[in-house]
Amino acid sequence: MRGKGAAVVVVVVFLFAACAPLPAQGAGRALFGDPRTSTSEFNAVSCSTCHDDGSGDGQRLFAGHDLTDSVGRPSWWGAQAPRLKDAVDNCLVFFMREPAPLKDDDPRGRALYEYLRSISPTTTSASLPLTIVENVTSLPRGDPRRGEDVWTRACQPCHGAPHTGDGRLNDLISVVPEASAGFAEQVGFDVDVVLIEKVRHGLFFGVGGNMPPFSVEALSDDDLGALVAFLLPL
Ligand code: HEC
Ligand code: HEC
Repeated sequence: MRGKGAAVVVVVVFLFAACAPLPAQGAGRALFGDPRTSTSEFNAVSCSTCHDDGSGDGQRLFAGHDLTDSVGRPSWWGAQAPRLKDAVDNCLVFFMREPAPLKDDDPRGRALYEYLRSISPTTTSASLPLTIVENVTSLPRGDPRRGEDVWTRACQPCHGAPHTGDGRLNDLISVVPEASAGFAEQVGFDVDVVLIEKVRHGLFFGVGGNMPPFSVEALSDDDLGALVAFLLPL
């Protein structure tokens, strides 16, 4: 009897160990949701600010793609990143103010990889398209109520309330749309075009800053036109 009991204990312990998440995977999940994953004191966003990992309610409009099944893609960032590490480094350096790409032996890289692998049950998946609008123009204004909904789902998680910035992640994040008005005057463009340019390009195309671009896949022109109608009523 005693021998059999010990065998059961051994089997139970073995099964438990096999099912328990790897320590790095749990650490990776925590890093995914924590702005302190970046060493910059000025950073206020985490991976989960910009990416679904399958844990949300499906209501958010994220700038980045859903990272479910992301590990088995042949390339990332619309084929611009041939290695998964490059894709993650882009985000850390461009958007989260990490001073440099992670060193190969940085435990954050390992842990994030294990977490992404744990949410990638499909081992081979297709690359996702990433269409960045190059030449920005005015858009037909849509329904401002739809625009308010777009603000709530796409912009509010970082910017807080429009016009006041109440609830924004930190005070380096601009108060919208007021912050664009002065700049529009400076450069001689209409405010709506300045706003659309920022949303479509984020920090890229010489715009500067840390905001992510919203590709056509992340936000449609119709949603953006409605957002303009909400933020800049005529
Ligand atoms: C401020 C927003 C933002 C933050 C924060 C952010 N990302 Fe991204 N990420 C993006 C955008 C935008 C892209 C480009 C669009 C795309 O490919 O998903 C991207 C792309 C990616 C991709 C490539 C997806 C694909 O299939 O093309 C991976 C992987 C990724 N990010 C992982 C991370 C991880 C891990 C973190 C946290 C360390 C992180 N990102 C933080 C916005 C962000
Ligand atoms: C992941 C966080 C994040 C999200 C989501 C986000 N922004 Fe931003 N945004 C920022 C940060 C940080 C800045 C300030 C730094 C910069 O200019 O890049 C900024 C700056 C801006 C500016 C520039 C204002 C100025 O100072 O000239 C505008 C306009 C803007 N955001 C509009 C939007 C709109 C509209 C949305 C929703 C479609 C949005 N943002 C979504 C982080 C974000």
